[in-house]
Amino acid sequence: MNINELNKNELEDWKKACKIAARALYYGKSLIKKGNNLLDIARKTDEKIISLGGEIAFPSQISMNQIAAHFCPVKNNNPVLDNQIAKLDVGVHVNGFIGDNACTVDLSGENSKLVKASRDALNNAIKVIKPGITLAEIGRTIQETIMDFGFSPVRNLSGHGLGKFDVHTKPTIPNYDNGDETEIKKGDIFAIEPFATNGYGVVIETSNPTVFSLVQKKPVRDMTTRQVLKEIENYKGLPFAKWWLEEKFPLFRVNLALKQLENLGIIKGYPPLADRENGLVSQAEHTILVDEKAIVLTKS
Ligand code: CO
Repeated sequence: MNINELNKNELEDWKKACKIAARALYYGKSLIKKGNNLLDIARKTDEKIISLGGEIAFPSQISMNQIAAHFCPVKNNNPVLDNQIAKLDVGVHVNGFIGDNACTVDLSGENSKLVKASRDALNNAIKVIKPGITLAEIGRTIQETIMDFGFSPVRNLSGHGLGKFDVHTKPTIPNYDNGDETEIKKGDIFAIEPFATNGYGVVIETSNPTVFSLVQKKPVRDMTTRQVLKEIENYKGLPFAKWWLEEKFPLFRVNLALKQLENLGIIKGYPPLADRENGLVSQAEHTILVDEKAIVLTKS
């Protein structure tokens, strides 16, 4: 979206969402420590968003090692942190306007270069952004920064525009030079999120999604599934975590309902995304506003 499409209050909402996202990320990052379990971290980070006056744009996700994105813990898959490289991705909305940011923590002490590669790529992208720069140029900056470290950018993950109640809109901000000559305009707001890997640089879908979203409403016959769907409708079409449902319904009912709803095309799952050669992946992300240069809205 571009700020020309917003009134003053809407822009304030957006800035507020971004500030809360930054504070929640900072807080969540402090919980990424050996011995902590992911469900605790996800829950506390989600609760932090609410306590700061925001709403959850997507469930706080902690993706580890070769998983680049889209992992949310669930009751029967709730890893305890040890030596992983962990990415925390946090999204907040205020009246539908979304702030999105992410960071990486290396608990092994052996992958600090990989963490720095995506962070420097993000910072360098922010430095080159100004009105008129092309998407390809931003991608090239990200790619070159990551390759200078001896790693690869993940090519099929990208930054993205943000819409009202919509986490992914145009433009697509590539993590490599994809030749897209579309120019950035003053007033554009979008998220930049470089991913760096010591593996292949392309992610593939794994199985067992733990994050879903509602895609269309349809009548449902089964009463239990209908109750679960009613709860899902509260999430306003934004992504939700399976563990949120596990807090409200017995696990077997959640599993059955999700399966039925997915088969009916009412919800869509987002399986964890892993590097094709199981390389370790790091990520850094900010939401920015393009003025004469980039203004980081998710600054902590
Ligand atoms: Co994002």
